Amino acid sequence: ADGAGLYAQCAGCHGADGGKAALGAARPLKGQTADALYGKLKGYADGSYGGSKKAVMAGIAKKLSDEDMRALAAHMASF
Ligand code: HEM
Repeated sequence: ADGAGLYAQCAGCHGADGGKAALGAARPLKGQTADALYGKLKGYADGSYGGSKKAVMAGIAKKLSDEDMRALAAHMASF
């Protein structure tokens, strides 16, 4: 999967370089490892991770395949 291409649907909230606090709630993605980011996407999808706005990310993460999550995590770790 194309991590950069998939990230286009995330940039509006998280920033092109992952530096924004999405909806004023998210920790910046920038500076996190691929393992940490992948684990958080899995956690949103299965309900085991998240804060007050986790429903926003759960809806998004449930539509991503495991392969998409890995490609996105690798891309976001490169910010
Ligand atoms: C949180 C990834 C799209 C809003 C997060 C986190 C990740 C992530 C990894 C966890 C940050 C952390 O706790 O360290 C992505 C990816 C996206 C995407 C890969 C696209 C496929 C969006 C969009 C929005 C959004 C489009 C806005 C509509 C948020 C919010 C949080 C968050 C509000 C914090 C939720 C909470 O309270 O736990 N996102 N995101 N994200 N994201 Fe996204």
